[in-house]
Amino acid sequence: MPQPLTVAGIMSGTSADGIDVALVRIAPQRAVIPGTPGRGTGISKLTLLAHRAFPFSRPLRQAILAAMNAASTSAAELARLNWRLGLAYAEALQAAIDTTGIRPDLTGCHGQTVYHQGTPALYAGRRIACSWQFGEPALIAARTGIPVVSNFRPADMAAGGQGAPLVPLLDYVLYSHPTRARILQNIGGIGNLTAIPAAAGQDQVLAFDTGPGNMIIDALMQRLCSRPYDRGGRTAARGKALEPVLRAALKERFFRLPPPKSAGREQFGAGYAHEFLAACRKISRRPNDAVATATALTAESIAESVRRWVLPRIAPAPADFIVSGGGARNATLLAHLRQSLEPHNCTISTTDSTGIPVEAKEAVAFALLAYQTWHHLPGNVPSATGAARPALLGSITYV
Ligand SMILES: Nc1ncnc2c1ncn2[C@@H]1O[C@H](COP(=O)(O)OP(=O)(O)O)[C@@H](O)[C@H]1O
Ligand SMILES: [Mg+2]
Repeated sequence: MPQPLTVAGIMSGTSADGIDVALVRIAPQRAVIPGTPGRGTGISKLTLLAHRAFPFSRPLRQAILAAMNAASTSAAELARLNWRLGLAYAEALQAAIDTTGIRPDLTGCHGQTVYHQGTPALYAGRRIACSWQFGEPALIAARTGIPVVSNFRPADMAAGGQGAPLVPLLDYVLYSHPTRARILQNIGGIGNLTAIPAAAGQDQVLAFDTGPGNMIIDALMQRLCSRPYDRGGRTAARGKALEPVLRAALKERFFRLPPPKSAGREQFGAGYAHEFLAACRKISRRPNDAVATATALTAESIAESVRRWVLPRIAPAPADFIVSGGGARNATLLAHLRQSLEPHNCTISTTDSTGIPVEAKEAVAFALLAYQTWHHLPGNVPSATGAARPALLGSITYV
């Protein structure tokens, strides 16, 4: 029988901006947030106790981005990064514990994805998919004295899934609703959504990556404005989206692929941003216009995904479109989404209004997944990842 536990979820996403730590109380009951029952999962009452964010230091961020974008790197470099990140997670978790006075029983650490290839491709004579998350769990467990669940993605992939997205279980537990469809859109480095029809069973959940989130916007801001990101979407608001560049970019193969599908820096990383900027500069030299175009690309690729793949499955129920991730703080992006989706019977809000700060949601998800694994319960949603079966996710490092 699952026990109530306090679980720390540690997340650092493709933006490589820093580490989010969520401290979550999870109990095996029904009824979650008022009005949003989690049916058919065995879970649970889930209460976010605290959230802390820790930006990466500049050298560590540089090392992560270098490893992610490198056409080639060395085994030594990767080994060092794995251990250095383990240290960063351990220190972040300890700081969260010290500043909140809350000591978790268990930790779920997603780690930093340095490479993800969700679909099989030919390698050394065989077709394989692969994924690699960094951050040595032995260091986290040893420094904090708390057991760690890590390496969540491979078990889903070994079951034939894409290993992503893994947040849908949390989305289902927190947001499934008897009369309203729910679309949970996370906008991190990459954009991804979970769609839950009204009164759906877990097997009706659809989830996939929509394409770039903040990744291209961030790259252009760093290159053109020497800022890490477009705070509030103000730079984009001062520019004008360049329609020919936007139209051409939306023709990208990834956007036309049917779900399930996943994306990363492999598709929308430094090389992509470089070409995108070159295309913008053929029409306008204004940085604001390039950032506005990247922002429009993120918004339109999300809206188009919803219109094409989601609305046909959830209509005629009205939908709540609930945004999380750092991109939820980009007002220009949200205004664009509102304009594109409100005519389709979607109400736009953020997870802030459901008691989960937009920055905390993915960290909460990995707390829940650790809780599942600790109790020998599956954490993937097969309809979301494409896996043939539910899978026990991750590896446990005991203390
Ligand atoms: N106030 C803000 N205004 C606009 N964008 C923001 C703001 N805060 C964060 N962001 C964006 O969110 C990104 C981080 O989002 P996050 O959800 O942590 O993504 P990831 O999971 O990829 O790390 C930043 O790189 C930035 O682009
Ligand atoms: Mg982040």
